[in-house]
Amino acid sequence: MAPRSPPLTAFGAGKVILLGEHSVVYGHPALAGPLSQGVTARGVPAKQCQLALPSNLSRPQRAQLTAAFARAAEATGSPPVKVTLDADLPLAVGLGSSAALSVACARLLLMAAGKEPTPRDAARVAWAMEQEFHGTPSGVDHTTSAEERLVLYRRKPGTTVGKGRVVDSPEPLHVVVALAGERSPTKATVGALRERQARWPERYTRLFTEIGRVASEGARAVEAGDLEALGDAMNVNQGLLAALGLSSPPLEEMVYRLRGLGALGAKLTGAGGDGGAVIGLFLEPGPAVTKLTRLGVRCFSSQLAGPRAV
Ligand code: MEV
Repeated sequence: MAPRSPPLTAFGAGKVILLGEHSVVYGHPALAGPLSQGVTARGVPAKQCQLALPSNLSRPQRAQLTAAFARAAEATGSPPVKVTLDADLPLAVGLGSSAALSVACARLLLMAAGKEPTPRDAARVAWAMEQEFHGTPSGVDHTTSAEERLVLYRRKPGTTVGKGRVVDSPEPLHVVVALAGERSPTKATVGALRERQARWPERYTRLFTEIGRVASEGARAVEAGDLEALGDAMNVNQGLLAALGLSSPPLEEMVYRLRGLGALGAKLTGAGGDGGAVIGLFLEPGPAVTKLTRLGVRCFSSQLAGPRAV
């Protein structure tokens, strides 16, 4: 493929984890799907490969983004393009915004370099960026964003890489995403859990193993079109996340609100902690979004998988 001349546009989807956050870090499966919201990268011709940094970033954030972009430029042969970014996704709340940004940049630079932005290549370049953002993430975020499909993801034991198996849904999977409380940084939540796990390994390993089982059962429920079973798996997963010390009053309150509004299942999604994102699985998400918005809750709905209305 010849290098495509800018202007170019590429999108990276945000993600939600339906089942299996945290235990995925320890090698158990997680079920995650792409949001229709995400990050768009745009490229125009330039003398060298460069990123226009968003003006609202702190100094450490600018340094981190610059370093991450340099990794993507290096991996794609530094095509001469100037990249700008635009997000329609709430940032740093557990919805995979850094992975969305990484996949958008990866796709754009691959195209500018004349390469096909396949999910595999986009994931490879995005992974290099994600390591600048997170250190040692499980890889579920950027894999889901690069595949843009519902995946059952598993990190290969003893490695930092993993694989996502695409899960087909015969039914439309609609979620409502609602924000609650003050978000704790993922690194801190993952680190504190690791300390507890190191102290009481048998108990924590039992809980991680059970969450992994629930995630696999949830994937089978999706494939069978059994949304009630998926919803139940989400509720059980929420209980296990609370047992691991990853929930909090604002998250629990939002979980119960979504269930009260008719969710088949509801749970925190992402890292959890003092606050962040909560998802509810709905057959009809519209009325819940309208009601929550009226109450001043930041929320939106997204279809993660399945046939779309025409
Ligand atoms: C990432 O969105 C959620 C965690 O499982 C961390 C990871 O997978 O790297 C908490």
